[in-house]
Amino acid sequence: MSKFQQIAQQLQQQINAGIWQSGDKLPSLRHQAEQQQVSLMTVMNAYALLESQGWIISRPQSGYYVAPQVSDGAAAVVQSEQTETNRFVFDVLQASRDPQVVPFGSAFPDPDLFPLQQLMRSLTSVSRRLSAGDAVDNLPPGNVDLRKVLARRYTRQGIIVSPDDIVITNGAMDALNLSLQAVTEPGDWVIIESPAFYGALQAIERLRLKALAIPALPGEGIDLQKLQQALKRWPIKACWLMTNCQNPLGYTLTAERKQQLVRLLEQNQVALIEDDVYTNLWQGEQAPLPALAWDRQGTVLHCGSFSKDLAAGFRIGWVVSRGHGIRIQQLQLMSTLSVSTPIQLALADFLQSQHYDLHLKRLRRQLAQRKKLAVEALKRALPAQAKIYADNGGYFLWVELPPATDCTLLYHQAMAEHISIAPGELFSATQQYRHCFRFNAAWPWDNRAELAVEVLGRLIARLCQ
Ligand SMILES: Cc1ncc(COP(=O)(O)O)c(C=O)c1O
Repeated sequence: MSKFQQIAQQLQQQINAGIWQSGDKLPSLRHQAEQQQVSLMTVMNAYALLESQGWIISRPQSGYYVAPQVSDGAAAVVQSEQTETNRFVFDVLQASRDPQVVPFGSAFPDPDLFPLQQLMRSLTSVSRRLSAGDAVDNLPPGNVDLRKVLARRYTRQGIIVSPDDIVITNGAMDALNLSLQAVTEPGDWVIIESPAFYGALQAIERLRLKALAIPALPGEGIDLQKLQQALKRWPIKACWLMTNCQNPLGYTLTAERKQQLVRLLEQNQVALIEDDVYTNLWQGEQAPLPALAWDRQGTVLHCGSFSKDLAAGFRIGWVVSRGHGIRIQQLQLMSTLSVSTPIQLALADFLQSQHYDLHLKRLRRQLAQRKKLAVEALKRALPAQAKIYADNGGYFLWVELPPATDCTLLYHQAMAEHISIAPGELFSATQQYRHCFRFNAAWPWDNRAELAVEVLGRLIARLCQ
């Protein structure tokens, strides 16, 4: 091990031992070099290594500070742990695609719930009219009719969005990645929820950013007080959060909390990347608004998608941004270039009819029924210690087992029985949700599902003994 690695390791051990605590200023480079009797360059390399691993952060013209730790309630995400999580995410997603496997671990809704025939009619109809120039006309920011329909849908909610503020993307994942890249530089700090959608963790790793995870609770959402503290203490550049039907917990923030969130971020000049892909799957009296509805300064980059409520395979998403649209288009031209023209035209054609709203109404009703049946079956099959969180909206249930239960082990045992679940480990770079799992309730509730839940119940009972 070279000298700089030794110094980095010593400091890491001291941080773990609590000698240096979150927020403490570390000795200056010069002081550390004198103390350790090494060159300035050696200490610089050691600090750079610790910074890249998320242990410390540098503040321009101020020095190096110990990064936030789990004890703050906010946890810094360490890169090496993320890579492991990513590998596991890939394995879990691949496994849940096998038709022999009961897909409780899947992130997708049952595709039979989508109006495929009507979508195909739109695709056939636009294909007949397609001209050579269409490919150029539909380059970023994307098809104008599609952007107009989307803008009208926002306006119906009382949110004034111009078609010029919208960029069409390859699904929400593309919209979210481009948005994050548009507002950050490698090395910047980004806030996410804990637990969070694993796509956020992956994007942060890919863009060489550092994450700070703020705790969120089922039924309530992100802790705004902890968020405020984190914004005060750390040089945060962006927040990537879900405000409606959060994945995996399922909560929807109240209008009041969304407003507080936007104000807080405005005051701190921090961009909000709002991941709102499940918004149309709300349940209850009234459709919830996105945080975008309270945005007055262009703070929010609102990312949406048709993948979860209309056409998963079409891979169409979008981002609304009142300040970063051009940068997002530039980044798009450097990555995917553009979104498929026939697919954009087909969606625009479909959305100009009344079919979408009728479909959404039916979809919400079907998902609510399936969720109710899934909760009843889980309540019957799981031991009494299991807590089942079934928030309004979306199709995920969050199941919390006693703290010592290992849901990663449960995942492997269930897979041996051809049943998938999404273990809690996927939703954090720490092991703090290892006793939890996410359950997808969007699939048909039939005998196979009923039997699979019974098997799951038996496996859990054995693990809880
Ligand atoms: C919370 C969340 N955001 C974004 C996405 C990605 O959406 P899309 O399929 O439109 O890229 C998913 C998909 O699972 C998701 O669950």
